[in-house]
Amino acid sequence: MFRIAMPIAFGPKTRLAHALLRSARPAGAARFSTSAVARSVPASQSPVKPENQKRTGVLPPYGPVGVAAALDATPSTPPKETLFTHEFSLADRVALVSGANRGLGLEMSMAFLEGGARAVYCLDMPAQPGEEWQKVKEYVGRMGGKGRLEYISADVRDQEAIWKIGETVGDKEGRMDVCVAAAGVLKSHTDCLEYPAKQFQDVMDVNVNGVLFTAQAAGRQMARFGNGGSIILIASMSGSITNRDNAWVSYNTSKSAVLQMARSMACELGPKRIRVNTLSPGHIYTHMTAAHLDTQPHLLDKWANLNPMGRIGRPDELRGVVAWLASDASTFCTGSDIIVDGGHRAW
Ligand SMILES: NC(=O)c1ccc[n+]([C@@H]2O[C@H](COP(=O)([O-])OP(=O)(O)OC[C@H]3O[C@@H](n4cnc5c(N)ncnc54)[C@H](O)[C@@H]3O)[C@@H](O)[C@H]2O)c1
Repeated sequence: MFRIAMPIAFGPKTRLAHALLRSARPAGAARFSTSAVARSVPASQSPVKPENQKRTGVLPPYGPVGVAAALDATPSTPPKETLFTHEFSLADRVALVSGANRGLGLEMSMAFLEGGARAVYCLDMPAQPGEEWQKVKEYVGRMGGKGRLEYISADVRDQEAIWKIGETVGDKEGRMDVCVAAAGVLKSHTDCLEYPAKQFQDVMDVNVNGVLFTAQAAGRQMARFGNGGSIILIASMSGSITNRDNAWVSYNTSKSAVLQMARSMACELGPKRIRVNTLSPGHIYTHMTAAHLDTQPHLLDKWANLNPMGRIGRPDELRGVVAWLASDASTFCTGSDIIVDGGHRAW
């Protein structure tokens, strides 16, 4: 089992320092003189000294990777490929995913298990998981991995209940590494000047309050165990643009709130090594969008033509980005909005 970030045992202490200094120098740049550094930064405070690693981030237990590993190696050190076996690996991680009975939440839960997660807890409204969820559980079960897909019936609007679920998972697993807040609702086309208060509130309750409560539930456990973690809030391109010809003022407003929620939480939680980012998809075919696309067939062409790729996206096209955000491959990414929209916002 490995933790997200524990100090590593260092070999010859100067070799790594020199390797890091060498790797910091771009090709062709002036030589990075340690004496020049010493003039502005006392040697005792050098960020590459193991005891000062808080300046450059504590290295993971598997040690330096990439160029630093190559420069640290002696001719007899066996070379190691680490990108997919270590940085992108989710081995032994525990995740909490809301809205995961189906759609993007289920797709991401499955990706985490393929990445090696120990357990992914899927929260959603129905008392029992649906057919799609059952089928995915059975399928990943046959992959031979040890990871578990667990289902918990819960309403993300209930802060107390969601915190309790976080605590129960934390007590059982002894860690919490990843959270995806994917539960969300989209209401029908409604004129902004007539938008009813209750309908607006209903959207805010799930898409804003529910996202906060889910992030809190996991974040409180991440803080409790002190291993850092990655919280991924599912926003939307609709948080920063308006979907043309769609009167979705509540949805768009809620997704904007999620963007700022992530930046705000990222700033508060950075010192605890808890990263908070948003993932903003464009049009993806799920039950949510099928409610529009399947009832108004002309919409498929229309939405497809709103991006330079000329098509809408598939849920599986978010597997890579969510694995990246959840894993050590993105340890310097926080407070960011990652947009995956087929170029919709480029036009
Ligand atoms: N599909 C897209 O094109 C698209 C684009 C951008 C963003 N998103 C966002 O992605 C997320 C997932 O959407 P999806 O497309 O998979 O839709 P979906 O409707 O298939 O999934 C949403 C899930 O959230 C659950 N949910 C709703 N209210 C809940 C509550 N109070 N408590 C717990 N669970 C609740 C639903 O039961 C459902 O399983 C949403 O936040 C959505 O706004 C989707």
